[in-house]
Amino acid sequence: MLSDAVAHLRCPVCQANLELSERPRRALICTAGHSFDAARQGYFNLLTGKGTVFEADSAEMVAAREEFLGAGHYRPLADALSATAAPYLSGDGAVVFDAGTGSGYYLHTILEQNKADAVGLDISKFALRRAARLNPEAANLVWDIWRPLPIADDSIDVVTVVFAPRNPPEFARILHADGSLIVVTPRPGHLAEIAERTGMLGIEQGKAERLSDAMAEGFEPAGNHDLDIDLELNGAQLANLAYMGPAGHHLDRDALLASMPAEGKLQVTALFTISLFKPRS
Ligand SMILES: C[S@@+](CC[C@H](N)C(=O)[O-])C[C@H]1O[C@@H](n2cnc3c(N)ncnc32)[C@H](O)[C@@H]1O
Ligand SMILES: [Zn+2]
Repeated sequence: MLSDAVAHLRCPVCQANLELSERPRRALICTAGHSFDAARQGYFNLLTGKGTVFEADSAEMVAAREEFLGAGHYRPLADALSATAAPYLSGDGAVVFDAGTGSGYYLHTILEQNKADAVGLDISKFALRRAARLNPEAANLVWDIWRPLPIADDSIDVVTVVFAPRNPPEFARILHADGSLIVVTPRPGHLAEIAERTGMLGIEQGKAERLSDAMAEGFEPAGNHDLDIDLELNGAQLANLAYMGPAGHHLDRDALLASMPAEGKLQVTALFTISLFKPRS
């Protein structure tokens, strides 16, 4: 339930406990009186009044991602992520935190297949509008991963990060000592068939080693596995795929669509690694 998820949240201003209030309107309110109203779609914007220079994913990028993911092309990845998280979500009152939850697709699969309370966080309110509709039982928060997270110490069983920024010291702080961090990253050669055509950013070699290095301060690697997905996509699907990633920030969607085959389909291969980390004791 949403109120169970809220029990693990902390006020971003004063770190006091937050509670869910329904009157006069739905809001998160801390014991010192800081208050964050729910948006019409159900998410909570904790960044109110602070401003941010970050370029959040646009509504169009979010729509492209939702359409592509909604068609099930990356379903094997969602299932594999959920299976990786399952052993750590088997206890009563388990809590999963999805950092950079986007439109909530991966968190949704985890919640379909596991019984857990959930917190989803993203800096894009366009993404959270969709996430809040898809995962209404989760606490969906607009917040910046690079800032101290509005989540209590030692309160989370699983942190998931799917193609989103990582803040290892904060992930280590909020995780239980026996909790798990699961990171999904693309591998070199990911979508290579369309990378050039779309100007998508290439995945550099050595990224896996860099991921472990970046995590080293708070986490030790606890295994990883690769997952490849063969896709056969038409022009519109390819355009969505290119546009929903980081390249969407600097690509024009119409030009992108025009550069794709008008007819027929293209074979592309998505290459992922799912990496598991445990907090260092
Ligand atoms: C490539 S998308 C992946 C979204 C989702 N995990 C998925 O795979 O569908 C990256 C996400 O990270 C979010 N993001 C980027 N920087 C962020 C930050 N500093 N704080 C919170 N979210 C951020 C973006 O808004 C976007 O939704
Ligand atoms: Zn407060």
